[in-house]
Amino acid sequence: MTDNEMKAFIGFQQGELDAVEMYKKLAQLTKSDKLREAFLDAAKDEGRHAAIMYKLTGTQLTPDSKLANIIEKAYKVAPKRILLQGVALGEQFGGNGYRPYIADYPELESIMFDEYKHRDIMRKLSKEK
Ligand SMILES: [Fe+2]
Ligand SMILES: [Fe+2]
Repeated sequence: MTDNEMKAFIGFQQGELDAVEMYKKLAQLTKSDKLREAFLDAAKDEGRHAAIMYKLTGTQLTPDSKLANIIEKAYKVAPKRILLQGVALGEQFGGNGYRPYIADYPELESIMFDEYKHRDIMRKLSKEK
């Protein structure tokens, strides 16, 4: 593994850990059972992604609640539609981030597809009343 790959993977791992916090926060905030279930499902996936990244980096990282705090603030002011579209966009970028590494690290492909799955779910939920 090159230094640059290691740096990128550490970044991904941190992103996954922070995404767990974000989705758990969203699950706490929502009054909708359907949304809560979707957020908790996504949180579980992000935890699995963090574990895959940990296997690659061998580095223990600490979850950071910055993203969750930003989302909490946004939750209180932004319409649900906008908030979920923002989350979907983050998932899109997240999935794209893995793409260049898949040829050398095939285990990252399932993460990429999960992020696109999250994107689609969040987009769909953003359109529901
Ligand atoms: Fe993820
Ligand atoms: Fe995701």
